[in-house]
Amino acid sequence: MAGGSILVTGGAGYIGSHVVLQLRERGERVIVLDDLSRGFRQAVRDTPLTIGNVGDREVVSNLLRSHAVDTVMHFAAYTIVPESVREPLKYYGNNTCATRSLLQSCAEHGVKHFVFSSTAAVYGTPTAEICDENSPTAPINPYGTSKLMSEWTLRDLSAASDLRYAALRYFNVAGSDTRGRIGQSTPNATLLIKVACEHVVGKRPHLCIFGTDYPTPDGTGVRDYIHVEDLATAHLASLDHLRRGGASTVMNVGYGHGYSVREVLDSVARVSGRKLVIREEPRRAGDPSTLVAKAQRIRDLTGWQPRLDDLDTIVSNSLAWERKLLQEPW
Ligand code: UD1
Repeated sequence: MAGGSILVTGGAGYIGSHVVLQLRERGERVIVLDDLSRGFRQAVRDTPLTIGNVGDREVVSNLLRSHAVDTVMHFAAYTIVPESVREPLKYYGNNTCATRSLLQSCAEHGVKHFVFSSTAAVYGTPTAEICDENSPTAPINPYGTSKLMSEWTLRDLSAASDLRYAALRYFNVAGSDTRGRIGQSTPNATLLIKVACEHVVGKRPHLCIFGTDYPTPDGTGVRDYIHVEDLATAHLASLDHLRRGGASTVMNVGYGHGYSVREVLDSVARVSGRKLVIREEPRRAGDPSTLVAKAQRIRDLTGWQPRLDDLDTIVSNSLAWERKLLQEPW
């Protein structure tokens, strides 16, 4: 299966590290570039790690040249919606400008395949209940805009060169390695399932529901939660598509059905056997009401098949990781 070397940017982060693990398990040659501003050295395990920023042209060029890289998987980015609302320039700098710089190096070194970590946030507040890849893109926060601009840069570069790409628009990622080796370890987490699991293990005295007046069946926000291992598999399937000569494409990655915040919290209570202390708060800035994927294209083009489409499994893996972090903090 192995082709040329693969540079994974942000490979010490939550999603990138799960992809690195799967790539290594199938025998790929992988190197990681991460500035460790939000990632963890431990998450990279024994894969070679260079500490640096993707916007550093010299570091990136050296890596591409010295490892004969023909594929880049680009995860390095800031990803927190409310933070992007407060500090937009940070997001346009680290996400959009750094991606443009990385692509410049890729173009100069003849990188052939590029797998890009994009987001459902490019859809903003969707006009339809379920978004497919042709749904209008209209981000409502700087995070989504920063990623959409990178998608456009990639589209235009690939039209003007031999580089082919797959941009994966993730929906809500959760869970952890089913063998318990790595997981979501970010301090001051904002993700719902992570926050709820931190509450269960005693790291937070309570948790909040942000918005109970959305136009959804129970008034709380609805999202398509996907297990991080299934999301990682989607990246390998996308790489295989490109290696087979497949055309550049943008693909949603989700399960195609959503859960409300209350349904997620019910699952956390059920799986943990604990009664949760919940506060109801106003809506959070930048949050759409409902985001659910139509994700047929990735199945059709790459043959990707999810294996862990079960909310209680996702919650149970997240909780197992949170308990492990309590014993052995990262
Ligand atoms: C996540 C991703 C974002 C992606 C989006 C796609 C991260 C940090 N965010 O954002 O990159 O574009 O999915 O859908 O990876 N909520 C609460 N209480 C909490 C936390 C959240 O009620 O303590 C609610 C939110 O208002 C929202 C839902 O839970 O309705 C999910 O929020 P969250 O887990 O933070 O993810 P997103 O903001 O959807």
